[in-house]
Amino acid sequence: MVLPALIAGSIQTKTSETYIIHMDHASKPDHFPDHDSWHQHTVTSVSTACHEDKEPFLYSYTHVMHGFSAKLTSCQLTELEKSPAHVATYKESFGKLFTTHTPEFLKLKRNSGIWRTASYGKDVIIGVIDTGVWPESESFSDKGMSEVPSRWKGKCENGTAFSPSLCNKKLIGARSFSKGLQAAGINISTVYDFDSARDFMGHGTHTSSTAAGNYVFGASHFGYAKGVARGIAPSAHVAMYKVLWSSDTFASAATDILAGMDQAISDGVDIMSLSLGLGQTPYYDDVIAIASLSATEKGIVVVCAAGNDGPSSSTIYNGAPWIMTVGAGTIDRSYLATLELGNGMTFEGTSYYPSSVSITDTLLYFGRDDPKISECVTLNPSEVKEKVVVCESSKMIDLYGQMEAVTNAGAYGAIFLTESLFLDPEDYSIPAILLDTRYGNQIMEYAWRNTSTVKSMKFVSTKTGTGPAPEVAYFSSRGPDPVSPHILKPDILAPGVNVLAAVRPDVPFMTAGGYDLLTDYALFSGTSMAAPHVAGVAALVKAVHRDWSPAAIRSAIMTTATKGDNVHGTIHDQWKGVGATPLSFGAGHINPNGAMDPGLIYDLDTQDYIQFLCDLGYNETQMSAVIRRSRWGCWIDRKDLNYPSFIANFNQTTSMSEKQFNRTVTNVGAPGATYWASLEVPSGMIVSLEPKTITFTSKNQKQKFVLSVQLEKNAPKVNYGYLKWVDDHNHTVSSPIVVTSN
Ligand SMILES: *[C@@H]1O[C@H](CO)[C@@H](O)[C@H](O)[C@H]1NC(C)=O
Ligand SMILES: *[C@@H]1O[C@H](CO)[C@@H](O)[C@H](O)[C@H]1NC(C)=O
Ligand SMILES: *[C@@H]1O[C@H](CO)[C@@H](O)[C@H](O)[C@H]1NC(C)=O
Ligand SMILES: *[C@@H]1O[C@H](CO)[C@@H](O)[C@H](O)[C@H]1NC(C)=O
Ligand SMILES: *[C@@H]1O[C@H](CO)[C@@H](O)[C@H](O)[C@H]1NC(C)=O
Ligand SMILES: *[C@@H]1O[C@H](CO)[C@@H](O)[C@H](O)[C@H]1NC(C)=O
Ligand SMILES: *[C@@H]1O[C@H](CO)[C@@H](O)[C@H](O)[C@H]1NC(C)=O
Repeated sequence: MVLPALIAGSIQTKTSETYIIHMDHASKPDHFPDHDSWHQHTVTSVSTACHEDKEPFLYSYTHVMHGFSAKLTSCQLTELEKSPAHVATYKESFGKLFTTHTPEFLKLKRNSGIWRTASYGKDVIIGVIDTGVWPESESFSDKGMSEVPSRWKGKCENGTAFSPSLCNKKLIGARSFSKGLQAAGINISTVYDFDSARDFMGHGTHTSSTAAGNYVFGASHFGYAKGVARGIAPSAHVAMYKVLWSSDTFASAATDILAGMDQAISDGVDIMSLSLGLGQTPYYDDVIAIASLSATEKGIVVVCAAGNDGPSSSTIYNGAPWIMTVGAGTIDRSYLATLELGNGMTFEGTSYYPSSVSITDTLLYFGRDDPKISECVTLNPSEVKEKVVVCESSKMIDLYGQMEAVTNAGAYGAIFLTESLFLDPEDYSIPAILLDTRYGNQIMEYAWRNTSTVKSMKFVSTKTGTGPAPEVAYFSSRGPDPVSPHILKPDILAPGVNVLAAVRPDVPFMTAGGYDLLTDYALFSGTSMAAPHVAGVAALVKAVHRDWSPAAIRSAIMTTATKGDNVHGTIHDQWKGVGATPLSFGAGHINPNGAMDPGLIYDLDTQDYIQFLCDLGYNETQMSAVIRRSRWGCWIDRKDLNYPSFIANFNQTTSMSEKQFNRTVTNVGAPGATYWASLEVPSGMIVSLEPKTITFTSKNQKQKFVLSVQLEKNAPKVNYGYLKWVDDHNHTVSSPIVVTSN
């Protein structure tokens, strides 16, 4: 399923509201033993000053920022903001969720490549911020797992239907955070949800098993995609931080997300994976960005889903340059059904109908004279009952609507002639097949005869190696990044369409043929599914290179990404099937084995990010909100962020049509190495580079280069090429160069 954008519903407005208050930790008076008691006292004293009761204090934050969240009246807030220790105020906001065979598609092989070198992610801890976890799922069995690392400070909380004994050497932490939601007057559903880290919708179970699930043999989605299910880092440990709840709608409060991230940092995770987002706001207003920078400073790799708002451009979420922002791609697996008509013609199409039943000798129905009927907008139940209905591709109604219409009219089955293959697995409520419109005439010609029949329709067949794959998923959010268009986002593409992983097994996944169906494993789609693949790869790279910074790990993943698909040679867009650009696939498709040995890296540290914020022109208030400090230094001259990709935005009406990028690469390969530049540049773009050869005499040595890009008149609006540094030891360090113009 493609998970919809889920936002909190009705929020009670009382005279007091929830705020996150960011404080300067250096201002804590010495007589308070810790920050928590200082925060609590601060709220008590402003309440006294306003002659009001102390309102609920929600959380004290120590890692993501120094501060707290509480319900405050406007008087209390005004008093608080007068304090010299006050840094920033954020009003409560609500997040949305971005909602196998993949290891083979990613060329991960037992006993070779990065799996072997990284010991499958042994001793690395992945923290997942999500909807909870189903601990009994076989994916969280700790068979073959190493001991819990001694540095781990997390725990498994007791709660509704969750006891600490459910954790083990695989699932080493499980906590939940809902104070913020409850303070907003949103009740957690006692019917669908659990007041604990137990997953209510399967999303967190799916993402965490994708990142680090153990081996499960014979997993499948009702027979489709059958095989071994396991995470990308099958020996890594998992900790779940539940911040998303089922209420009258699905909801997630910023205060709770922040509390989960704060706890994950404190517990000692190495990688953090978030498949949700708050908004597209400047970093000083985006608490996920602020918390992620804090995590990054502590060496934690933060991986986030880019959002499901594609194919429109400028729809990226979580695009801060210290975050690894992940788009979704398709995989080379198709789900097929075969159709044989009464006249002997046979066709192969797409279907996820969850049963191996086959239809035989059934009447066909096609209402050819009225578009409303031929396109299945309205159907007469007495005419279609017990027949297989042919539906023409429609502009009036989409596939979901057609499926609903044929189901409601009581048809036995359906044949959809369509150019889009965007029907989610759980929408196959009756036996149905999707066929390309190019077969339309043949089928309609036969179907409109009164005696036409379906000889047979057979389901549940999975084919791998189908193409083109990967393609950028139609829903994957696209760049340019709305907050910082001069940083290329997304960073990377990873599998996010029909990903098989563990789900909640005790509630119906779908209704088909009138039956509610349960499953342990299911196919989900979304950038939500892509992010944990990258979290898993980051865990593998971390296992091989313990001392690498989050930026180095990201650089390794980006510069080794693949740019081709299995058909055209370049990655295409599922939407319209045309060639895609780095604005939708970033540096390319993730390539785990390559990421282990990138040759060179583009590294970044906290001071680089501080300089990046200085160059955005942030004032003191905004700076201290993002970097959580009261003192910092900025260079007066702008400095380029040492990012592993390049993007220039030109305005053709102005004369400035050259952009220079300064970069520094660090040699992480053998001590003596020489790299030659190979530039792949399309017409319309002029790129110069200085120097064109870089020589290293030692490991970890750094070298600088300058790349300049010019645009020719009448160049396409989006133009891109690549800079590749190549040595004679099989390293290709590749970065996209993108030029947009308006
Ligand atoms: C664990 O939580 C459950 C449900 O809230 C409760 O009934 C039980 O008493 C708790 N156990 C402990 C040891 O706190
Ligand atoms: C939440 O639950 C409380 C107590 O059961 C009830 O009074 C309140 O109306 C509920 N709020 C909503 C928004 O349903
Ligand atoms: C199908 O049957 C209808 C009425 O039963 C008739 O009007 C129509 O001409 C027939 N079509 C063909 C192609 O035989
Ligand atoms: C920074 O800008 C914000 C928004 O314009 C403003 O509220 C704040 O007072 C400014 N801070 C300083 C120190 O100028
Ligand atoms: C890039 O480096 C050159 C010197 O190599 C320097 O003059 C220039 O200011 C730098 N530009 C930026 C944006 O850092
Ligand atoms: C391009 O530059 C011109 C002249 O400075 C300006 O008027 C125009 O708004 C700019 N266009 C965009 C899209 O930035
Ligand atoms: C480079 O890769 C090829 C194919 O993977 C391999 O045969 C060759 O030995 C490698 N060369 C070096 C220098 O590692």
